[in-house]
Amino acid sequence: MPVAAIYGPDDFPNTVRTVRRPPIAPAKAAAGANPLPRLEWTPEVERDTAHLYERVKRVIPPVEWPLMAPTIKAINELKVQRDAVILAHNYQTPEIFHCVADIKGDSLQLAVEATRVKASTIIQCGVHFMAETSKLLNPDKRVLIPDSRAGCSLASSITGADVRLLRERFPGVPVVAYVNTSADVKAEVDICCTSSNAVAVVESLNAPEVIFLPDQYLAKYVASKTDVKIIAWKGACEVHERFTGDELRAYREADPSVQIIAHPECPPDVLAEADFTGSTAHMINWVRQNRTQRIVMITECSMADNVQAELPDLEMVRPCNLCPHMKRITLMKILNSLLTFSEEVTIDPEIAERARRSVERMINLKN
Ligand code: 13P
Ligand code: SF4
Repeated sequence: MPVAAIYGPDDFPNTVRTVRRPPIAPAKAAAGANPLPRLEWTPEVERDTAHLYERVKRVIPPVEWPLMAPTIKAINELKVQRDAVILAHNYQTPEIFHCVADIKGDSLQLAVEATRVKASTIIQCGVHFMAETSKLLNPDKRVLIPDSRAGCSLASSITGADVRLLRERFPGVPVVAYVNTSADVKAEVDICCTSSNAVAVVESLNAPEVIFLPDQYLAKYVASKTDVKIIAWKGACEVHERFTGDELRAYREADPSVQIIAHPECPPDVLAEADFTGSTAHMINWVRQNRTQRIVMITECSMADNVQAELPDLEMVRPCNLCPHMKRITLMKILNSLLTFSEEVTIDPEIAERARRSVERMINLKN
């Protein structure tokens, strides 16, 4: 069924509203910072990174490898010395995703894996809400993000105060927050969800109606899959909302054999054209299992590169919208994080305790 109503900041005009953004602070050197290693392309670097280049040679031209390989080697050595583990979202670039990451996946996989990490330091290669989720689940570990300005248009569309106002307007209606939200929003809701489990989370509440925030398009997708009445928020992903149904129809007209797979953050006219809709991990699994020759991947560009690196025979059509926030994370910034133990993610303990409950309730849900 269609969503019942969509609310946004304009519906609460008399409220002082401050969107909490990740702090924009220059990276500070922590005590015990290591000196910058020599980053030179030498025969030793070429030899020690040859097996890594094998993984990405389909998507990184040979001329670029000598510029990346010394930093990749330094990161891989330093992360062992510094007892650090690198978590990378599916939207990270191939040299990060395939060459330095220890744990990779979609938002749900990263949240679950974060609970199992043994190392004392986590470096989150993704956006700020992902690093906050890792910190929530690992309060005693050092969680670093290589650039804390890596935000998200969904996370910055809503505040904890907005959730409190929604609760006043809809007393007793449970609230589900997509993990693409800040900790202070997670602290105000009943449970979190990701694009992998959104429908199951909504139905787990056994309620006739649910407030689902902040992604209006994911809300519409969920509403199309359940009988639960969905009240949505007006947020959108700036990457996925740019795709259009017309664009997809043009691909199909050009080659009727193409298979189109799309992320549920896309608008409904885009999803109507898709052969498969799913989270980033579900999309990757679909490609692995179906092995269709020509695939149009309607999501962030780097994920298509990462899949192409793994499955070289695939012909990938990439309409390709970049997430500018994900792209703030680079090899040099990861190296800097390891050297200086910056930028550390911190969360107010009172907010963290309540936000953790919402994330853990999702993780503990038996589907
Ligand atoms: P996934 O949970 O599907 O990885 O999505 C996260 C995200 O930010 C997509 O834009
Ligand atoms: Fe946020 Fe969209 Fe970037 Fe994902 S792709 S992090 S939802 S802005």
